Amino acid sequence: MAEHPWQRALLSLRYIGSAGARRALLYALVRDAWNRRLPPPKGPWRPVGPPLAMEALPGGARFRFPEAELEALLFPWGLRLTWSPGRLPPSYWNPELSPIEPLREEREGRFALEAQGVRLEVGPEGLRFLRAGRVFRREALPERRKEAWRHRVALAPGERLYGLGSVAAPLDRRGRAYRLWNRDVGGSYGPEEGPLYLTIPVLLSQGPEGGHLVFYENPHEALVDLSQPEEALWTFMGGALRYHLFPGDPKEALSAYTALVGRPPLPPRFALGFHYARWGLSTEEEVREVAEGFLARGLPLSALHLDIDYMEGHRVFTVDRDRFPHLEELVADLRAKGVRTVLILDPGVKAEKGFPPYEEGLREGVFCTLPGGALLKAPVWPGWCAFPDFTHPRARAWWGRWVQTLWRLGVGGFWLDMNEPAAFAAWGDPTFPLPTRHALEGEEGDHRLAHNLYGLLMARATYEALKGETARPFLFSRSGWAGLARYAWNWTGDVESSWPALRRTVGIVLGLGLSGVPYTGSDIGGFSGHPSSELFLRWFQVGAFMPFFRVHSAITTPRREPWRFGEPVLSVVRRFLELRQALLPYLYTLAWEASQTGLPPVRPLFFLDPSAEAEDAFLLGEALLVAPVLEEGVRGRSVPLPRGPWYEFWTDRLLEGPGEVQAEAPLDRIPLFVWGGAALPLLEGEGLTLHLYPDREGRAEGLLYWDEGEGEGPFRLDRFRLEGGRLLWAEEGAYPWPWEGLGVRLHGKELLGAWVEGRWYGAREGRLRLPPFREARLEVKG
Ligand code: GLC
Repeated sequence: MAEHPWQRALLSLRYIGSAGARRALLYALVRDAWNRRLPPPKGPWRPVGPPLAMEALPGGARFRFPEAELEALLFPWGLRLTWSPGRLPPSYWNPELSPIEPLREEREGRFALEAQGVRLEVGPEGLRFLRAGRVFRREALPERRKEAWRHRVALAPGERLYGLGSVAAPLDRRGRAYRLWNRDVGGSYGPEEGPLYLTIPVLLSQGPEGGHLVFYENPHEALVDLSQPEEALWTFMGGALRYHLFPGDPKEALSAYTALVGRPPLPPRFALGFHYARWGLSTEEEVREVAEGFLARGLPLSALHLDIDYMEGHRVFTVDRDRFPHLEELVADLRAKGVRTVLILDPGVKAEKGFPPYEEGLREGVFCTLPGGALLKAPVWPGWCAFPDFTHPRARAWWGRWVQTLWRLGVGGFWLDMNEPAAFAAWGDPTFPLPTRHALEGEEGDHRLAHNLYGLLMARATYEALKGETARPFLFSRSGWAGLARYAWNWTGDVESSWPALRRTVGIVLGLGLSGVPYTGSDIGGFSGHPSSELFLRWFQVGAFMPFFRVHSAITTPRREPWRFGEPVLSVVRRFLELRQALLPYLYTLAWEASQTGLPPVRPLFFLDPSAEAEDAFLLGEALLVAPVLEEGVRGRSVPLPRGPWYEFWTDRLLEGPGEVQAEAPLDRIPLFVWGGAALPLLEGEGLTLHLYPDREGRAEGLLYWDEGEGEGPFRLDRFRLEGGRLLWAEEGAYPWPWEGLGVRLHGKELLGAWVEGRWYGAREGRLRLPPFREARLEVKG
C-alpha cells in the first residue's frame, strides 16, 4: 500500500516530534528565501548551430560551433565528449586516461573521427556513433538555456534502458521521466516514488543495434525524459555537458564504465554474512539480548548495527554513557562471538556551544557556509546542525580523525546515513539551500554542483580515514554518486513494508548494479510498517541472495527479531541463514570478480539471454537463478529460464531453457536453479563441497577465490573443471587450502566414487570426500 502525502507527513512527525516539526517549518522558510536567489534558468533553448571547423587534438578533435565547442576524444573503451561552455566538476574519477590516435575526415561541413572500429560523425543534423560499421547511438546537437544544457538522443523501437541509480520504477526506464537529485524520502517510500537517495546519470542501452552505456560526468540536477517513444531528452541544470560512451554488450560496457568511475575493493568476508539492525535498540542490555537471541537459537549473525540510539542526544561522535556505559566491552564480547558491531554516522554536527566536534570544526573552518560567510544550519536528528563540507580535503581529514576515535572502540564498520544530504524541511526539497557554498577542491562553487556529490565524498572521507586502520574498511552509505563502490556499499533506504514494495526492491537492487553500485540490499521486512509473517518470510528469502543481507526496521514499528514471528518463520529463517553460510565461498568469489570487473553479484537475466525482460527473477553470479515469491499466498510461480539446462536446486529436477517453467514455492523455499555447466563450491559443516551440475556434454566449471577474509595477505584461486568424467583442479596463489580435502557431489547422476593417483575413494550415498588432487576420475552409475 503506497502512502498518501499526508500519511507520510504524519509518519515523519512521529519520527521527529513536535519540536522537530517546528524546526522543519522554520527551515523550509529559510531555505525557500535562499533558493529564490537562484531560480532555475529560464528563456528559450538556443541551438548551438552547425559545426564550423575541426581542430586536431591528441586522441581526437575540437569542433567549433557558433554557440559552443565540442571536444571529442577516443579511447580503447569508447569515447568522451565534452560540450562547453560550462564548468566541469573536480575530477573525482579515474584521471588516467590515454586516448588513442584517430583518423580524421572532413568534407563539406561534415567531420568524422575513427579509431579501433569506433567512429564518430559530426554534421549539421547531429552526431552519429558507430562501432564495427553499425550505428549504436544518434544525437541531435545540444541546446543551451543560460547555463543549462539539453540534448536529444534517438531511441530505437526495441531499445531498453537501465540505470539511473536507485529508482522506484520499472527496471526498464523507458516510458517515464526522472529527476536526478539525491533525496531523503523522509521515512517511507513505496513502489512508485520520485528520486531516491542515490541517483547517477548513467544509462545502459540494450537494443537491436547492439548496446552501449552512457555516463554523464555532470553531477548537477538532471531531468531525464524517457517518456517519448523515439527519443530520450536529457537536461542538465548547469556545468559542461560531458559524457562517456562505452559501446558493447552489458558486461563489456559495465566493466569499462566501472574502470573509469571505480570498482569495489574486496570487502572483508564478514560483510557477506547476515546483518541485523534495528532503530530503537536503546541500551547495552537490549543489544546483548538481541545478539544472544540469535546465537542461542543457532542463527548465524555476522554483524549487529547500532542506530542513532547509541549516541548522546543523537550527536554524531558521541556515545551515551548512561545507556551504553561499557560499549567497548560490548563490542569486544560480540567480536569474540563472531559478531561485528557497526555504528551509524550522520553528517550533521550539532551546532551547540561547547560540543567538541562542533567547536573544533568551527575553528578549522570545515563546515558549509552560506553566501556572506554565515554558517549553514539545518535541522536533523540532534536539532540544528552544521555540516562538514566533504568537498574540502581539510574537512575530510577532520571528519576522518573523529571517525578514527570511534573505530578504536573496536567496531567492524560504519553505516553512513542522511548524506543526500538530508535536512528536515516541512515542505519542498529536504536538503541544503542551493546557494550553500562548497570548496569543491579549491575550485569553489555552490550546492547545485556539490549536492549529488555529498554522499560520495562523505563515504570517501570515511573510507580514507579507515584505510590507515584496516586494509578493508566496511562502510555502507545511503547516498552516493558514480564511483561510490570504491568506498562503500549501499542499502535502499526507508522502504515501506508492503508486497508491492518488496517486488520493487528486487528491481532497485538490479538497477543499482547496472549503475555501478554492486553491493546493496533492502531492509528485510520493510523499514516503515510491520510485515505479516508471510511478508517477512518472503522478504527474508530474497534477502538471503542479495549482496547486502540485512534486517532493519523503524523505531515506530514492533520489534523484528525473527523468533518474534514464531513458527514456521523461525525454521525457514534458519534454513536460509544456513544456505547463505553455505554460499559464502561462491559469494566471496563473486566479490573478488566484482573487484576485478565491476560486475555486480546480482545480475538481470538479460546477461544470459539478451531478450529476457523479467525483473522478478535474477541471477546471482551466473551459476544461480533466483525466482523469489513477491505476492501473498503464492505457493508456486512460473520462472523464465534462459538457454541451457538448469537444475532445480532443491530437487535436482533437470529443466531445459529457454522457456517458462512452473516451480513450486511452498513457504519454506523459493524457486532456485543452478545452471547446467556450473561447479558450485558450498560450505557444508566444516568442509567445502564442490557441487557439480554437468551440462549435456557432461561438462562443468567453477572458480573459487579464498583468503584470510580480511587484511592484505595471500589468496588462492582454485579452478575446477569436469570434462569426460575427469575432474581437474588447478590452483594459484599462496594461501593454503583451508579445508580437509574436498567434498564432491555430482547432480543428475549417481556418483559411485573416484580414482585419485591410482587409489579408489568410494562415495557414500553420492557423497565423496577426496584428498587434494590435480585430477580425479569420477565413476558414475549406468
Ligand atoms: C533514516 C535511515 C534509517 C535509520 C533512521 C534513524 O531514516 O534511513 O535506516 O534507522 O534514519 O537513524
